Amino acid sequence: MSGLAKQKKAGLLSIGFVLTQFSFSPVFAEQRPFNLGSIATAEQVAGWDIDVRPDGLGAPIGAGNAIDGEAVYTDRCASCHGDFGEAVDNWPALVGGEGTLASHDPVKTTGSYWPYASTMYDYIYRAMPFGEAQSLTYNETYQIVAYLLNMNDIIDDDYELNNKNIGKIEMPNHAGFLIPDPRPDAQSISGDPCMNDCNVPTQIIGKARDIDVTPENES
Ligand code: HEC
Repeated sequence: MSGLAKQKKAGLLSIGFVLTQFSFSPVFAEQRPFNLGSIATAEQVAGWDIDVRPDGLGAPIGAGNAIDGEAVYTDRCASCHGDFGEAVDNWPALVGGEGTLASHDPVKTTGSYWPYASTMYDYIYRAMPFGEAQSLTYNETYQIVAYLLNMNDIIDDDYELNNKNIGKIEMPNHAGFLIPDPRPDAQSISGDPCMNDCNVPTQIIGKARDIDVTPENES
């Protein structure tokens, strides 16, 4: 485990401790009556606090465009995901798949499926390259996300993606995630709570399909 990983793990333990035992009250946390764990430092908390919300909140300060992203992507991602995001062997494809979501063989890529560019940033920074998670810099991550968005025809190659605009990119399948919630106390998509006649009957509009992944019984 690297020094940073150790530090982060230690941070998690102490965050968990503070949360469960002291409900985040700094006064109680200071006292540590059981003398267990240690108080998470701001640096440790920052190591864990890497989520980027759909609206872009939490995106680290940085920027990058697709022109610069090509080299980083080729170096760090193409061996599995293909030079153009088309996928090598069985690794996931990251580009293409438009118009396939409702078909028998949906191709779910960052372009055809993902609802937010900010989630791409979060996932890629958090989890990729596979086996070397969190080794990209903030700017490299912006460059790569810009490159993927560009290959999916969502932004131009010189568009500067940054922490201010990443929550505003319009993704092709954004509407695919606007799922109406018929519960009376839930907000409707428009933001207005349903007040009358809200008990919408459930209607089955799709069924699980045979995706043929279960091996035949040889005997
Ligand atoms: C060693 C192979 C490998 C490398 C290198 C790699 N990935 Fe991945 N990638 C994977 C695997 C495996 C998954 C599926 C992980 C899972 O589902 O838990 C994945 C999933 C993804 C996904 C989600 C795909 C989807 O729609 O579900 C994205 C986006 C992604 N990778 C981007 C990247 C980027 C960007 C890089 C370079 C910084 C990168 N990957 C490098 C193997 C790799």
